[in-house]
Amino acid sequence: MREDVWRDLVDLARDGGLVALTGAGLSTESGIPDYRGPDGRRRNQPMTVSDLLATPQARQRYWARSYVGWPRFAAAAPNAGHRAVAALQRQGAVTCIITQNVDGLQQQAGGRDVVELHGNLDTVVCMNCGERYERASVDEWMAEANPDFDRSVEGPLRPDGDVLLSDDLVAQFRPARCIICGSDKLKPDVVMFGESVAKPLVEQCFSAVEASRGLLVLGSSLAVMSGYRFVRRAARVGLPVAVITHGWTRGEAETSLKIDAPLGATLTRLVAELGGGPAR
Ligand SMILES: NC(=O)c1ccc[n+]([C@@H]2O[C@H](COP(=O)([O-])OP(=O)(O)OC[C@H]3O[C@@H](n4cnc5c(N)ncnc54)[C@H](O)[C@@H]3O)[C@@H](O)[C@H]2O)c1
Ligand SMILES: [Zn+2]
Repeated sequence: MREDVWRDLVDLARDGGLVALTGAGLSTESGIPDYRGPDGRRRNQPMTVSDLLATPQARQRYWARSYVGWPRFAAAAPNAGHRAVAALQRQGAVTCIITQNVDGLQQQAGGRDVVELHGNLDTVVCMNCGERYERASVDEWMAEANPDFDRSVEGPLRPDGDVLLSDDLVAQFRPARCIICGSDKLKPDVVMFGESVAKPLVEQCFSAVEASRGLLVLGSSLAVMSGYRFVRRAARVGLPVAVITHGWTRGEAETSLKIDAPLGATLTRLVAELGGGPAR
């Protein structure tokens, strides 16, 4: 890492008032994989909302895979990067946190004013009647409906919190139904590919960015417009955009300061450097 770039980052943080925009890269050190590696190419093809809503078979596949992945996803713990972001907030370097992550780890690490741009996998919504459920309850219903289903299937956890399964295993799985209306059209309450972020939430984030002293992008390729637009807005109104992320991002043109380094160690060092907090 270039020393002058590091000093610029420390100065920016010391001036305070930054909005943090976090992505999947902040949670990889907790064992939840990201979508894109440093080369910016997507490794997995995520399921779109229209795929999910198209057929009962698609929902059976989604929920079977997700049922197997859930214990591991839910057991993921915050890492040094999440804790450092919460510390930066206490120091005044960061004000609000806009996260594209759906894992809740930033809040678990003590982050305040976290805007979950894409929702959280801990909630399930019925696409037929609109009722929302805690994922933990839906998980219990699925366990009751599938007493003989072997949940300890080997295989890596994937970015959406699922595990790939054979067609045979998927065929054995009985998805849960909404207890209000009986529909099987249950969807994780997250913004899936093919959906968009609610407009008032986007406006709230634009306002936070415009009221800030700059944007700090942590672990995001910015390939998805829902996060990238805040980078564009910050640049347009003349605010600095600092990025700590491995590899390529779509925001290169808007980036004023880039550090390609692991988030846990880098953010921990930044917190230590600020020590008593920014002089306001
Ligand atoms: N943890 C989660 O909740 C999770 C996980 C995967 C995907 N998603 C969803 O997928 C979308 C993905 O977009 P995105 O931009 O957030 O992620 P992304 O996968 O497109 O990009 C992640 C970036 O972080 C970098 N990175 C990974 N580990 C790092 C580390 N330890 N230190 C520094 N950099 C690191 C990668 O090189 C990559 O550039 C989001 O909309 C999000 O909702 C969420
Ligand atoms: Zn319903």
